[in-house]
Amino acid sequence: MLNIRPATAADLEAMRELGVAAFGAARGTIGYLLEERHGILGGRTWADRYRAGVRWEDSFVAELEGRLAGFASYVYREQWRLGILKNNAVAPSYQGRGLSTALCRHVVTHLKALGASQLTVHTLCHIPAAMRVYEKVGFGNPVYGFVLSAGAAALRRPQSSALVRPAAASDERTVEQLCRRLGVPYDPKGTVFLAERDGSLAAFVRLACDRADRTAFVAQLCIDRDRDLGAEAVGGLIAFACADLAAQGTLVFSGYAAEKDALSRRAYEAAGFTVLCRDVTYTMQA
Ligand SMILES: CC(C)(COP(=O)(O)OP(=O)(O)OC[C@H]1O[C@@H](n2cnc3c(N)ncnc32)[C@H](O)[C@@H]1OP(=O)(O)O)[C@@H](O)C(=O)NCCC(=O)NCCS
Repeated sequence: MLNIRPATAADLEAMRELGVAAFGAARGTIGYLLEERHGILGGRTWADRYRAGVRWEDSFVAELEGRLAGFASYVYREQWRLGILKNNAVAPSYQGRGLSTALCRHVVTHLKALGASQLTVHTLCHIPAAMRVYEKVGFGNPVYGFVLSAGAAALRRPQSSALVRPAAASDERTVEQLCRRLGVPYDPKGTVFLAERDGSLAAFVRLACDRADRTAFVAQLCIDRDRDLGAEAVGGLIAFACADLAAQGTLVFSGYAAEKDALSRRAYEAAGFTVLCRDVTYTMQA
């Protein structure tokens, strides 16, 4: 009989191994796909990274025939009444019997009981079983996007009509103003490069670098559409910023473009990035 209960510290190792088996079979993490394309990053395999991220706190496990058959973790952000269904998996030998549906339903009920008014979950589009489960338990409004990556050697510097340069401390106010005007969050962290046209800020890119792994990801790509930069020029900005980090030893770059944001995706491609996978974020109102 299926038994769903809160996880304990004693479940952690079994959760880790179950997750590695399930996500490995599904090519189900971005870390897995990056490693498949670019090799082992920073001396740690995707499975090492995945294991390190598994938490027994705020998790439920499903037991069948007295064995751990699946788990689902969640995060509840009280200040926004936001519930996030996180890492979840069912052991390959137990898949297709409704376990994930039962587990995810359990987590959704639990998050609503905690006070969540909005719930969200993210997955990769080549895992149709996960998409099906999320839709079955009531998630909807899918928002699709693309994760892209490039090795340092693949970076291209397309012709750019814009002036591209690293941001200085004196640019902070202009960057913040652009964020406010476009209604996107302003975050002063990371390495920022700007593209200017006619002396005004037209776009900026902010890269977050993991020096140990020698990887960086584009934490923010912000384009002022009124300035009509075009994909080549924005690609020039991305490539310029990445090349600067590549010169300091970064080997692999990743970025994200929402499906409806064709300009960003074309800009990444102009810079030498290619699509790693398509992803989807669902939401649900409680
Ligand atoms: C996603 C996962 C948790 C589903 O576990 P599960 O216990 O097999 O799921 P369920 O049995 O409750 O439901 C699976 C549903 O997907 C459907 N499904 C399975 N494979 C499918 C495929 N290739 N195409 C379309 N639908 C598929 C099943 O038919 C079922 O739907 P149904 O009940 O309407 O028939 C499991 O496959 C897994 O661990 N995958 C790897 C890790 C992962 O992707 N985790 C979630 C992503 S964040």
